[in-house]
Amino acid sequence: MSFMQIRDLHVHYPIRGGFFNDVVDHVLAVDGISLEFEKGKTYGLVGESGCGKSTTGKAVIGLEKITSGRIIYEGEDVTNKRRNRNSSFNRDIQMIFQDANSSLNPRKRVQDIIAEPIRNFLKLSDLEEKRKINELLAIVGMPEDAKFKYAHEFSGGQKQRIGIARAIATNPKLIIADEPVSALDLSVQAQVLNFLKDIQDELGLSYLFISHDLGVVKHMCDYISIMYKGRFVESGTREDIYQSPKHIYTKRLLSAIPMIEPDTRQARKKERILVEENFHKEQHQYFDENGRVFDLHPISATHQVAMTAKEKWVI
Ligand SMILES: Nc1ncnc2c1ncn2[C@@H]1O[C@H](COP(=O)(O)OP(=O)(O)OP(=O)(O)O)[C@@H](O)[C@H]1O
Ligand SMILES: [Mg+2]
Repeated sequence: MSFMQIRDLHVHYPIRGGFFNDVVDHVLAVDGISLEFEKGKTYGLVGESGCGKSTTGKAVIGLEKITSGRIIYEGEDVTNKRRNRNSSFNRDIQMIFQDANSSLNPRKRVQDIIAEPIRNFLKLSDLEEKRKINELLAIVGMPEDAKFKYAHEFSGGQKQRIGIARAIATNPKLIIADEPVSALDLSVQAQVLNFLKDIQDELGLSYLFISHDLGVVKHMCDYISIMYKGRFVESGTREDIYQSPKHIYTKRLLSAIPMIEPDTRQARKKERILVEENFHKEQHQYFDENGRVFDLHPISATHQVAMTAKEKWVI
């Protein structure tokens, strides 16, 4: 049973221009996507830069205005509601931001950064709050004295951990993790990813895991949606997407993953050229005349693909 549903979400940004600075057009940053979340699962959101991943995350958490569509949390419509401090949705849905540098207030000590959601949502005494902060720092593997320092005194990986400590402070149900490791060194990436998995098991968390890195997504996610120009081209389990991708855009993304093994490299190169040829030949089956992605259609209980008419589809 899913505890939260996103239904047909649209986020359009106005483009202004002309002498009177009127709205002349809109950027369709998110253009009709739907998702459901179950406890303890990780949902991947993948796509190239600018396809609308961060906008989706920010709209869900209430940082961007939703143009249309619905967000239902535990049976209640929470779309664009002026969410008050006591609302369980605010407490239960947290975000790890793409850029740890700018999401941590430089004027605050780490203890105040982490305490912010605690003060907003949990009624703790000073002593309880101190204990909670120590506990959170221990969970993310930071020393206790880190709490007296400022964010700029830490490395990228450490900052990301502080962001994670803040995100898990209120025992959330869902964490929107927007490129949580893409700014980090490879070695630190693995550390942070494994750590996210560990706390998932411990706390029963769900993640909306945003990334453009298909390797990382494969490691982390149970379900994956591939996004292109604000829409989903394909959605399914990890196996659906990696074992039997159907949309030409998904195939293209997968064929672009670099391979380290020299013996498979040649075959991959050939495959990539083939996918690229097909992409140009068959585009019209996957995008309408304006280049917009078609609606998703189910092809199995878990797997959905955006395609023209079903009957034209050869699986
Ligand atoms: N505040 C804004 N005003 C106008 N357009 C915006 C705004 N924020 C984002 N956009 C546009 O919306 C689209 C989606 O942006 P978004 O940040 O969601 O992309 P993304 O998938 O997260 O990309 P990246 O992988 O680079 O982080 C882009 O075309 C972007 O230019
Ligand atoms: Mg982004």
